[in-house]
Amino acid sequence: MKVPLVDLQAQTAEIRPRLDEAVRRVFDNCSFVLGPEVQAFESAMASLSGTKYAVGVNSGTDALLLALEVVRAERGVGKVVTTPFSFFATVEAIVLAGLEPVFADIDPVSFNLDPEAALAAVDAQTVALLPVHLFGACADIDRLKEPGVDVIEDAAQAIGATYKERPAGSLGRAGCFSFYVTKNLGAAGDAGAVTTSDDGFERSVRQRRAHAEVPVAGDARTYHHVGIGRNSRLDALQAAVLRAKLDSFADWQARRERNAAYYGEALHDLDVVQTPAPSAFGRHAYHQYVIRAERRDELSDHLAQAGVGTRIFYPIPLHLQPAMAGLGLGEGAFPVAERASREVISIPVHPHVSDEQREYVVATIRAFYGA
Ligand SMILES: Cc1ncc(COP(=O)(O)O)c(C=O)c1O
Repeated sequence: MKVPLVDLQAQTAEIRPRLDEAVRRVFDNCSFVLGPEVQAFESAMASLSGTKYAVGVNSGTDALLLALEVVRAERGVGKVVTTPFSFFATVEAIVLAGLEPVFADIDPVSFNLDPEAALAAVDAQTVALLPVHLFGACADIDRLKEPGVDVIEDAAQAIGATYKERPAGSLGRAGCFSFYVTKNLGAAGDAGAVTTSDDGFERSVRQRRAHAEVPVAGDARTYHHVGIGRNSRLDALQAAVLRAKLDSFADWQARRERNAAYYGEALHDLDVVQTPAPSAFGRHAYHQYVIRAERRDELSDHLAQAGVGTRIFYPIPLHLQPAMAGLGLGEGAFPVAERASREVISIPVHPHVSDEQREYVVATIRAFYGA
């Protein structure tokens, strides 16, 4: 049996007519850049995130970059406190925005930024806290508050997650989402969005995503630029694909939850494996189902030989990436994140894992440990 970590073929097959119709609609209108598809997706995304606005951009990385550029424009050059246990884009965006990354260690159970460590890392130069809702569970946002410091959520993995009944993306000054193909809501390529309920923040992100071009009231002339922006527009084709997938989103999330509940039950007696704790604060989006496992690398080989797709998110913490060598942080700087990097492994939790497939995943893990 084969159990892929992600199954885009099965996902596409399930909603193929809707995808074809979405693409046809865009070609019927030939409105490829921004326009009605992007606007319709932005309002759907804002309502899903419980925010006043969503601004479609061309990736999750750009969502972070644009949000941090707004912070920098408002507060000046300064430090951003974040987690060392994330995808590289988290820290990359901080550096690209001309800000200085400062890491704080993570909580060993949630894998998210440890609020106490994060606040201890804040100083007079800190302009933002950048928690990541890793694997689909929200960071403990209510404890990540500091006067004069913006909270920007890296919600790239957290669409559908909640914190005390508030959706990810509505918890800080802005939320940054990725719709990379493998995300819970994935485009046919790259896409992202910034969510916010702050009028000024929204205006600034919206301007910056398209060359900071702002029409002058009562003046027909175009090409009037009020600042230095970028070209980071969400494509209409991607917006149409995302809208088509939104119709299945709630069902897909429920299927992820069912798979996660099954694994939790079926693996709980194995003391060599630690299954993820449900989110302490609300709904876990289960973007990844991440276990800590003894002899992790051998387990990974064993599962690969048995046809089960797995992946290590993330094998090298951000402070130990070669690109971050300039920060001068060595092994031992963030021991909880470093240990997680050695012990975690993701197993297939996507909505198209069948009952037989998930039973097979569990049986293969149990066989490896002779359980
Ligand atoms: C935590 C996190 N932040 C940022 C990103 C960047 O998003 P994108 O790949 O859409 O640029 C990702 C996506 O891979 C991510 O997982």
